[in-house]
Amino acid sequence: MADTTSLQRHWWQDALIYQVYVRSFADSTGNGVGDLNGIRSRLDHLASLGIDALWLNPCYPSPQRDHGYDVADYFGIHDEYGTLDDFDALLAEAEQHDIKVLMDLVPSHCSNEHEWFQAALTAAPGSTERARFYFRDGKGDGSEPPNNWRAGFGGSAWTRVNDRADDGQWYLGTFTPHQPDFDHTHPDVKQHFVDIFEFWFDRGVAGFRVDAVAPTGKHPDLPDQPPVGDDIGVLDITWVNPYTVFRPEGHDVWRDFRSTVEKYQHQHPGRDLVMVAEAYAVRRPELIKEFTQPDQFHQMFSFDLMLSPWEKGSIEVALRDPFEILHTTHVAPAWTLNNHDIQRIVTRLGKADAHLPESWTNNNLVLSNAAIDLELGARRARAMTALIFALPGSLYLYQGEELGLPEVLDIPSHRREDPIFHLTEGAELGRDGCRVPLPWNTDESTSFGFSKPAADASVADPWLPQPDGWGAYALTTAEDDETSMVELYRSVSDARAQFAVTQPLQAEILDLGDELVGVRRGDLIVVVNATTQPVAVDLEHPELAIAQPVFSSEPGEMHTPGVIPANATVWFSS
Ligand code: NOJ
Repeated sequence: MADTTSLQRHWWQDALIYQVYVRSFADSTGNGVGDLNGIRSRLDHLASLGIDALWLNPCYPSPQRDHGYDVADYFGIHDEYGTLDDFDALLAEAEQHDIKVLMDLVPSHCSNEHEWFQAALTAAPGSTERARFYFRDGKGDGSEPPNNWRAGFGGSAWTRVNDRADDGQWYLGTFTPHQPDFDHTHPDVKQHFVDIFEFWFDRGVAGFRVDAVAPTGKHPDLPDQPPVGDDIGVLDITWVNPYTVFRPEGHDVWRDFRSTVEKYQHQHPGRDLVMVAEAYAVRRPELIKEFTQPDQFHQMFSFDLMLSPWEKGSIEVALRDPFEILHTTHVAPAWTLNNHDIQRIVTRLGKADAHLPESWTNNNLVLSNAAIDLELGARRARAMTALIFALPGSLYLYQGEELGLPEVLDIPSHRREDPIFHLTEGAELGRDGCRVPLPWNTDESTSFGFSKPAADASVADPWLPQPDGWGAYALTTAEDDETSMVELYRSVSDARAQFAVTQPLQAEILDLGDELVGVRRGDLIVVVNATTQPVAVDLEHPELAIAQPVFSSEPGEMHTPGVIPANATVWFSS
C-alpha cells in the first residue's frame, strides 16, 4: 500500500459536506420555496453536525424546468432564492461557523431561456450564435432528427426549431428540450466558463460540484447510436450511447477547467479549491481514474455504496475500488449515500429485495417496487452512515438524511414537478419524493417550520406537499430523543473527528469471516453486520485483539462485547 500519510492534506480530502437543495431547505419569505436567507437562519443546525462545507444545488436564475439544472444566467441568483447580496451574506455567516460553500456548476447544458440560446434561435444556420450549441439539419427533407439519440429524461434528444422551409434546424438537448447542450469546442463557450469560475471564486466559493460530467463532450460527427438490447430501460438508452457518454472530448473540457482553477489558485495563494465530478461510474474504477487525473477533477463521487445492495459481498466491492484508487493515485473518494436524484436511503434499504446482489443498479432512476419496512431501512441507514463516517475521503450528506427522512412516494400526480415524471407520462415517478421540504418543527401551519403562511393565508403552502405526520421526523422532535437519527449524525461526526480523520488516508478490507464486513483505517476498525442475525466477532482475531468498541450505530448497544447486532456497524479502536 502506498504511503499517503506524508502527502499534503487538503481540507476537502477528509471533509464533511452537506448538500443543500435550496428549494426545500428553509423558506424565509413565505412563498413556499426555500431560499438563501432560510439557509442563513439554519446555520446552527449545520454547525451542530460538524460540517466543513455546504454544497448548494444550482441557485442561478432559472425557469426551474429542472429545478436549477437549467441555468438562464450563470452570474446571478434566482429571484425566488434571493440576491447576490444574500449570497455574500450567507458566505460570510457560514465562514463564521467555519463552513465553506461549494456551488453547483452545470456545464453540459443551459436553459433554453439563456440569452445565448434565445439569440441562437433567431440567428441563421451556420451563425456563431448557433455554433455555441449543437444545431444540425434534419435527415432527409429535414423533418427527421439528425440522429437517433434519445434524451436522458425521455423522448428524442433533438427538438426542431421551427417548420420554416429555409431553416427548421434541430438542436440537441441531452436531458430535456429545455436544456440545450453547449458545444464546448467553441471559444465563446470556453471563455464563458472561465468567467463563471472567476466570478464565483472572487465571491469566495471554495469549489464546485460539476454536474452531468458523463455527457459533456460528443463525437464530432454525432453518429447514430448503435442498436441497444431489449434489456436497456427507456431512461438508460442515453447512458449507453458511446457517442455522447464518457467521451474523450469531455476530457479537454475538464483540462481547461482545471487549468482555470489552478491559475486562480496560483494568483490567490491560500485558496484551496476543489472540483468534484458528478458521473455514475459504478463499478468502473478505470473511469474514476480517468476523470481524476491530476489535470482534471480533484475528486469524483463514489456512488457505489449508494447503489449497493445491503449485503456483504456487494458492500465490499463498493469499498474495494475506491480504496484501490486512493492507494494508487492518492485521489480521496467522495462518498455519498443520498442525493437529490435518488430515493432516500431509509426507503431503499428498507425494501424486501435490498439485500439481493442482483438489485445492484447503475441507474439511480430504476426503482424496485418491493415492500418497504421503514424501521429496518432506518437501522440499515444508520449502519451505512456509521460505515462511511469512518472511511478515508470526503462525505457528501444530503439534507434530511440526518432526520432519517423516508422517500415520499405518494405525492399526487398534479403536484409532481420533476420533468422525468412528465416526460415519461408518469411511467417513472421521478425525484420529487426526495425533495420534499424539510420538517424543522411540528407546527403544521408553517409547513413544519419550513415556511410561513403568506400574508393572506392561515397556513403555509410549500412548493411540494409534505405528507401527514412529517412532524414525526422534525428536528425538534429528534432533538428530544437521544436515539434519533440526528443524534446519531452528531455523535458519529464527533467520533469521526476523534477516531477517523486523525488516521491516515488509507483503508483496507479485513477478512473477518463469511458474515461480517471489516475495514481497517489505521488504528480504527469498523465492522458491519449486514445479515439478519447478531454475529459474534472473533475478539482473538489479530486485528481486534487489543481493540475496544468505541462507537455503535445502534443507540445504547455497546452491550455484549464482541457481538455485532444485525443491521449494525460497530467501531473498534486500540
Ligand atoms: C444531474 C443532476 O444531479 C440532476 O438533478 C439533473 O437533472 C441532471 N444532472 C441534469 O442537469
